[in-house]
Amino acid sequence: MARKLLIDTDTASDDAVALIMALRSRDVEVLGITTVGGNVAVEQATRNALFTVELCGAAVPVYQGTGKPLLRTLDTAHWFHGRDGLGDHGYAPARLHAESENAVDAIRRIGNANPGIELITLGPLTNVALALAADPGLAKKFSRCVVMGGAPCCEGNVTPAAEFNIWVDPEAAQVVFQSGLTIEMIGWQLSRGAAVMNAIDIDTALKLGTPTADFAVRSNSTAETAFLKQTGERGIALPDPVAMSVLLQPALSLKASRHFVSVETSSELTRGMTVVDRLNVVKDDRNSPVWGEVSARQTPVNVCWELDVAGWKKALFAGLA
Ligand code: RIB
Ligand code: CA
Repeated sequence: MARKLLIDTDTASDDAVALIMALRSRDVEVLGITTVGGNVAVEQATRNALFTVELCGAAVPVYQGTGKPLLRTLDTAHWFHGRDGLGDHGYAPARLHAESENAVDAIRRIGNANPGIELITLGPLTNVALALAADPGLAKKFSRCVVMGGAPCCEGNVTPAAEFNIWVDPEAAQVVFQSGLTIEMIGWQLSRGAAVMNAIDIDTALKLGTPTADFAVRSNSTAETAFLKQTGERGIALPDPVAMSVLLQPALSLKASRHFVSVETSSELTRGMTVVDRLNVVKDDRNSPVWGEVSARQTPVNVCWELDVAGWKKALFAGLA
């Protein structure tokens, strides 16, 4: 029996590759895709999600969600993904249309109707925070929630302290991390270094000769240039597909530990920082390694520290084949 999955996304070029991996997987049945403002405006994210569903020949409903963070204005990432989020190659709009139901209502309905369903978030956490605030019991309906986001004990990609998805809407992230959802946090650092889709990987993907592989490479052309400028690293960084690979195959998270994760929401300097007490210096029993009783206040987050890089790339190529 295929596992059920709900995907929340600010669909730009790396999100689209993650969507392809899920839509092409025989292990999960995607019950819905909800869109949120982030990399691009939510309307564009919705168009990009519909384009990707159509490219995969899938029949999965797309629900448009919240256009701006809970309390802040939206800062998009056009500089990284291009104005359309897909590298500005002028892809023809999909013939598919989004559902009339709002993403937040859809998250609540689908979560409550499918206890045990899995959730993955690939963008800012605004939709999920609103759904949880309206329906706190929803946190226990999801068996797991893989969050692509955060920079645990390491540098951020949008400020020295914060990763984009958390930085865009830190208040939403704080709500989600404190909600009792069973979260696995896949930080941006895991998609760098050996995990980057390098020249050999790009050649391997293009040799697959599939429309999805060609799209995965071409739509990330702007991202590849921006990533080089940002980090000096060559290749295509794919944080959302890395998170999707762990959703699909949990064993790809080679090393993880449980911590309560606090998100900075007041300081502008460290806005969106995911504060993880890896050494448990505050002696809080919600932290590993000495794992105490789970605090009633929140379910600790499982923070991934090491990825099975070979396994991640195998999952990527399987999704693009
Ligand atoms: O920081 C990387 C994350 O921000 C990815 O999800 C990317 O798509 C952007 O949303
Ligand atoms: Ca994303």
